[in-house]
Amino acid sequence: MTTPLGQALTLPCGLVLPNRIVKSAVSEYLAESDGKVLTDHVALYQRWAEGGAGALITGNVMVDRRYPEAPGNIIIDPADGLKVRDDLKRLSDAVRQGPARIIMQVNHAGRQCPSVCCERPVAPSAVPMKFGRGGFLSFAPPRALTEDEIEDIIGRFVHAISIAQTSGFDGVQIQAAHGFLISQFLSPRTNLRTDKWGGTLENRSRILMEIFRRAREITGNEFAIGVKLNAADFQRGGLTFEDVLELVGWLHTERVDFIEISGGNYEQPQMFGVDGESHVYSDGRLKASIVAEEAYFAEYASAIRDVSTIPVIASGGFRSREAMEMSIDFRRADAIGLARPLCIDPYAPKDLISEQLADLHHIAPPESGLSAHVFGAKSPFPWVRALHRYANITWYAYQVSKLAKMGRAAPNEGLISTLLAQRGFFKTHKKS
Ligand SMILES: Cc1cc2nc3c(=O)[nH]c(=O)nc-3n(C[C@H](O)[C@H](O)[C@H](O)COP(=O)(O)O)c2cc1C
Repeated sequence: MTTPLGQALTLPCGLVLPNRIVKSAVSEYLAESDGKVLTDHVALYQRWAEGGAGALITGNVMVDRRYPEAPGNIIIDPADGLKVRDDLKRLSDAVRQGPARIIMQVNHAGRQCPSVCCERPVAPSAVPMKFGRGGFLSFAPPRALTEDEIEDIIGRFVHAISIAQTSGFDGVQIQAAHGFLISQFLSPRTNLRTDKWGGTLENRSRILMEIFRRAREITGNEFAIGVKLNAADFQRGGLTFEDVLELVGWLHTERVDFIEISGGNYEQPQMFGVDGESHVYSDGRLKASIVAEEAYFAEYASAIRDVSTIPVIASGGFRSREAMEMSIDFRRADAIGLARPLCIDPYAPKDLISEQLADLHHIAPPESGLSAHVFGAKSPFPWVRALHRYANITWYAYQVSKLAKMGRAAPNEGLISTLLAQRGFFKTHKKS
């Protein structure tokens, strides 16, 4: 085996990943409203474990059942006590029978909690989502958290992290990217607070650093704790890459085990390689990567590696083995995160590492003649482009449910039929 993708990677805590391919977080949307792990989850992770990735990062597990990212999330709420551990253990056991490591992503949706789940989301400040109510995926305006509630949220993250450790997970990833609660605290666009949780970068990062430090006190140094960070928000007045570099320095001092670099949020979904607000924020590094239509944040991952020795997972857009290998060979990243391709082909990591597979570009939703034009990603109408983006993500979510329930994805299904199927799921899971 000559590809660098097959090399093992040791994290600062001592955890060894058997290779350089990481399955990035993909929300499974498989749980019932109680947020419990089901047999479908176990089957899904068994398949992904067989697929050969060095580490599997779970979809976001929510730390507060009142504010999930979507119906169907796994939930670890302190109100449920320790009883959630048995089901979680079945999941970690299924993965750890093989060489892959299992990392739980922990998250709080903040203002990105959709109206189907809660009527009044919470956020650092009462800054509503740009597309607010009335859209196909609507979000009510949030209210600002009190300081006591912020303390409560920190406790919830720490609780979920300690449950992950005692349920056999190898580590956790704190979701501080993609516009969810911690990312809302980091961004000066959504965090207008004037107390110790807002203002300077140090204050805006306080919630993340507190969660990390308090969790570390409980888990000890041999449990992996990583962070998913946005390279930037790519919105005017949002988190900048300069902020992120400074934050990385602090995380380095605290001995974070890995950083996964992504970018964007629901308003500006750069994590999927699309620009929701064309021309609002321009950055040469991002443009260069997007033009290549691969490795959206590779330039940022590389710059982070230059200022710290924290292992960096670059994710978002990787599709060719060559781009993945070059990133490792030229030390631009320590590992490569893959999400959407593994919703269709769970065995891609094995085949990339054995060099039987060179390219994943073919993995994409089928585009009909009509949807490719007026109703497609490049439609002249912004709301159509937004609907198309949503349908695209829904298509992948549908593939995950097929993988879990049928053992294989259904990539020939069209965008519209999968959108309708997933809408049906959301309706039946709507909070009463
Ligand atoms: C259906 C779906 C669900 C996702 N769920 C999560 C999630 O729970 N947490 C997260 O950090 N990212 C999530 N992502 C984003 C991916 O982790 C990844 O950042 C993004 O898809 C870009 O990587 P890719 O080009 O390899 O797909 C999700 C993506 C998809 C398509």
